[in-house]
Amino acid sequence: MVKVWDGFIRAFHWSQLLLLAGCWWTAEEGEMVWHQWLAMTLLALWGARLYWGLFGSESARFASFLKKPGEVWAFAKALVKGQSSPKAGHNPLGGWMVALMLLCIGLQMATGLFASDEIFTEGPLYSWVSSDTADLLTRLHHLNFNLLLGLIALHLLALVVHSLKGERLVPAMVTGRNKTLAQGPALKASWPAWLVFALLWGLLYWGWGSGL
Ligand code: HEM
Ligand code: HEM
Repeated sequence: MVKVWDGFIRAFHWSQLLLLAGCWWTAEEGEMVWHQWLAMTLLALWGARLYWGLFGSESARFASFLKKPGEVWAFAKALVKGQSSPKAGHNPLGGWMVALMLLCIGLQMATGLFASDEIFTEGPLYSWVSSDTADLLTRLHHLNFNLLLGLIALHLLALVVHSLKGERLVPAMVTGRNKTLAQGPALKASWPAWLVFALLWGLLYWGWGSGL
């Protein structure tokens, strides 16, 4: 049994799920101070994931899973013919899907920073832009959330397809281990990613959270 995901990737994935659900719930309930606490924590986690995408384990690094169009096309053709084989990390299609999800979550947070409900709550950078721009970014914050829901639905659909093919990807994202692979990627100890997370959280707390 080989290990495919390090501790940071797994903790990142499931905490991201909880934080996104929390951001949605607090926004629905109008608990906007909590919305910002959760969003701030998600931003620090997301920043640490970008760092890990550059310097982390092989299966976490963007350079190892963002493949050239030719390879993605070849993989997609093999997938349709039922000839694709399991990968020790993201497959060439899944890799771009991961990038798209991370970007979409990034855009959600970037627009949130300038958003306002025009009653009590303003994102921490609201005053940096004109009120027209803030309006536009607030509308984008709402629109992009629907895009994010669409990507999440696609993500879950892809996982159902994989499980119908007998690939047990979800247990692998929980335990880190994959039974079907012969050789795993090179994994690193997670502490540098957690250090980056803690530094970013501290920085965001200093500039934003302490004023909430
Ligand atoms: C808010 C909802 C979700 C979001 C935004 C999300 C996002 C992501 C992202 C960004 C990755 C890439 C991980 C990385 O390399 O850092 C990923 C991978 C993965 N996610 Fe999710 N996820 C969500 C929900 C779920 C749920 C509910 C499940 C399972 C029931 C799941 C199972 C997986 C699995 C198995 C992988 C690894 C895929 C592979 O082997 O390539 N995700 N997800
Ligand atoms: C840096 C991160 C974020 C900041 C500063 C932020 C800030 C805000 C602000 C100020 C509003 C009020 C705008 C309005 O009601 O029209 C808002 C609404 C909202 N936010 Fe965020 N947000 C962030 C991240 C997120 C994330 C990650 C999600 C994803 C779940 C999210 C989902 C929503 C939703 C769905 C609303 C609309 C609530 C409603 O009007 O029903 N936000 N956010």
